[in-house]
Amino acid sequence: MRFVDLINKKKQGGNLTRDEIHFIVEGYTAGTIPDYQMSALLMAICFKGMDKREIADLTLAYVNSGDQIDLAEIEGIKVDKHSTGGVGDKVSLIIIPLVASAGVHVAKMSGRGLGHTGGTIDKLESIDGFKTELTRDEFIHNVNTYKMAIAGQSANLTPADKKIYALRDVTATVDSVPLIAASVMSKKIASGADAVVLDVKVGSGAFMKSLAEAKELAETMVEIGKSLNRKTIAIVTDMSQPLGREVGNANEVKEVIEVLEGRGAPDLTIVSLTIAAHMAVLGGAYPDFDKAYTALELVIKTGKAVEKLKQLVKIQGGNPDVIENPEKLPQAKYHFEVKATESGYVTAINAEAVGVSAMLLGAGRKKKDDQIAHAAGLTMVKKIGDKVNKGDTICILHTDMENCEEAENMVKSAYYFSDNEPQPINYIYEVIQ
Ligand code: URA
Repeated sequence: MRFVDLINKKKQGGNLTRDEIHFIVEGYTAGTIPDYQMSALLMAICFKGMDKREIADLTLAYVNSGDQIDLAEIEGIKVDKHSTGGVGDKVSLIIIPLVASAGVHVAKMSGRGLGHTGGTIDKLESIDGFKTELTRDEFIHNVNTYKMAIAGQSANLTPADKKIYALRDVTATVDSVPLIAASVMSKKIASGADAVVLDVKVGSGAFMKSLAEAKELAETMVEIGKSLNRKTIAIVTDMSQPLGREVGNANEVKEVIEVLEGRGAPDLTIVSLTIAAHMAVLGGAYPDFDKAYTALELVIKTGKAVEKLKQLVKIQGGNPDVIENPEKLPQAKYHFEVKATESGYVTAINAEAVGVSAMLLGAGRKKKDDQIAHAAGLTMVKKIGDKVNKGDTICILHTDMENCEEAENMVKSAYYFSDNEPQPINYIYEVIQ
């Protein structure tokens, strides 16, 4: 098989066979196919797409490239959740204690930040001592005993996806429905959960910018999940602005505590409760979504949810005092206020630009080996629909850098104003099951 013929086949809109897909994935992972040929093929896939059979074969080729985790020793239905990535997306940290409080086994595998989007593992590591690398036995013990565990993905879980993702990141080939679907679903299948809730983000801070693309991605992933006997639900949620008020790491943990104490921003609280309620139904704790949603609201009101977060921090070696005293989380040296350049309503926020600003402040990585500054980030003081006067503070930058002009200018230009009040934003667009 000559790789150049496969690039040409896809360029002409042809379908790759199962053998061809395995040859591509195995060859690239093993290093026998160079980056330039793989890049050309990925770009051809971006333009010509893949049919359902090709996407399922690509998913399985990723799964077979590494280890698969066997969670059979965990009793009951194991439920996982995955987001396609957003800015200020701290939902995973909220749903773990919430769903576990309902008695469902939450076996959560999470990643680090990618590009302008944040990563749950980076956020957790802002808690002093929190261990994100668990052995298989520790992971299984914690899920069986406390109904919850969270760990970074092991190095050998879907290594093909890891290598191809890194190439996609630098060749403008991330935002492709077949490539995202195979990447996300392979990780969920390899990590052994029985049921998965997918949070498909749409808007300026997401990889999918239009509702039509996000729906297509959601439907594709649900089909793959079902064809591989995983109960799968995809929820299309808003990412037209950062989710909640905090973007960063330690400040996002603080916001997680606020949501679990019932003091959270409405968008973040509603999206989190919706995802958690679907997980709780899939896990068999409630007969339907409405009952689950109401019960989980009560879990927050009674203080059980925040206690469960404290327990999660404790069992994974973190300092549980931060839950009652969030000021013990890392704090930045400097706080710069960004002022509105005109009066009016905030009508749009370029969430991707906010994500890049957070990275420039130190909250994310420019290069894959960069260290994160856990205290760095932004507080979105004003969001879409808020009325402002020229000179009002719209955002606060938290950083250890004395000069952060580039990030400040980026945030300023991320805000759009108008005299006309915008329509309220939908937080949840579609639930596909
Ligand atoms: N998240 C993933 O895990 N993979 C992608 O391709 C995009 C977002």
